[in-house]
Amino acid sequence: ETKPRIPVLWLHGLECTCCSESFIRSGHPLAKDVILSMLSLDYDDTIMAAAGHNAEAIVTEIVEKYKGNYILAVEGNPPLAEDGMYCIIGGKPFVDQLKYAAESCKAIISWGSCASWGCVQAAKPNPTRATPVHKVPGLADKPIIKVPGCPPIAEVMTAVVAYLLTFDKLPTLDKQGRPQMFYSQRIHDKCYRRPHFDAGQFVEQWDDEAARQGHCLYKMGCKGPTTYNACSTVKWNEGTSFPIQSGHGCIGCSEDGFWDKGSFYDRL
Ligand code: SF4
Ligand code: SF4
Ligand code: F3S
Repeated sequence: ETKPRIPVLWLHGLECTCCSESFIRSGHPLAKDVILSMLSLDYDDTIMAAAGHNAEAIVTEIVEKYKGNYILAVEGNPPLAEDGMYCIIGGKPFVDQLKYAAESCKAIISWGSCASWGCVQAAKPNPTRATPVHKVPGLADKPIIKVPGCPPIAEVMTAVVAYLLTFDKLPTLDKQGRPQMFYSQRIHDKCYRRPHFDAGQFVEQWDDEAARQGHCLYKMGCKGPTTYNACSTVKWNEGTSFPIQSGHGCIGCSEDGFWDKGSFYDRL
């Protein structure tokens, strides 16, 4: 309560905005508490009231005023082909805005699979050369926290922010740069259908008796055995459910290159 709220610049490159959509639905903590009480979200071109030159001036103001003391949150990624012309913000390539804002930040949060891995716009043949944040040539060498998922779970997003603000340090990251507390286990390790997998009870058709009984979706292409995320523990919509619980296999949306790893419905 006594600490000044830390400024955050939330930039948007090539993306679909559903990472933001997820974030604003966090129940614990409530997104409004994160935005209004825990941090100072000074720039977010999707939800801010300001527009045009007034909005762009805020980026410069924060970068100059809070050198080394603001968090850079990135949703989406920059396309590098044609000098970045496939994503223009305020008349300039997004990659330039990203590099400028990264230069003086304290740390970078790569929201979602777009910023973390590239996601659908980087899928083959990737005509715009969409590039995940950590692979952007010439980007300042700053700590990067990857929070992958398409989108990431709302409470995982707000928990990462809460951790940063509470402890004033990065959460422990795994070798791929993801917070260990949410990405150290496979969906398969904590899936409630796992006993059916172990017993060899598999759904073979979407409408067969095994589907009605809630058996394992492995033979329908479930990527839970190779996907690291917290969906089977934290779940979605404040712990209500997750894809497998709704009857569809995991498509591995938090994994690097999941669009190019074969059909969502092919067995592993
Ligand atoms: Fe949208 Fe997925 Fe990219 Fe998030 S990671 S902006 S949900 S496409
Ligand atoms: Fe594993 Fe998927 Fe089967 Fe769950 S439904 S036990 S994650 S293969
Ligand atoms: Fe994505 Fe699989 Fe979770 S598809 S939302 S990682 S269950």
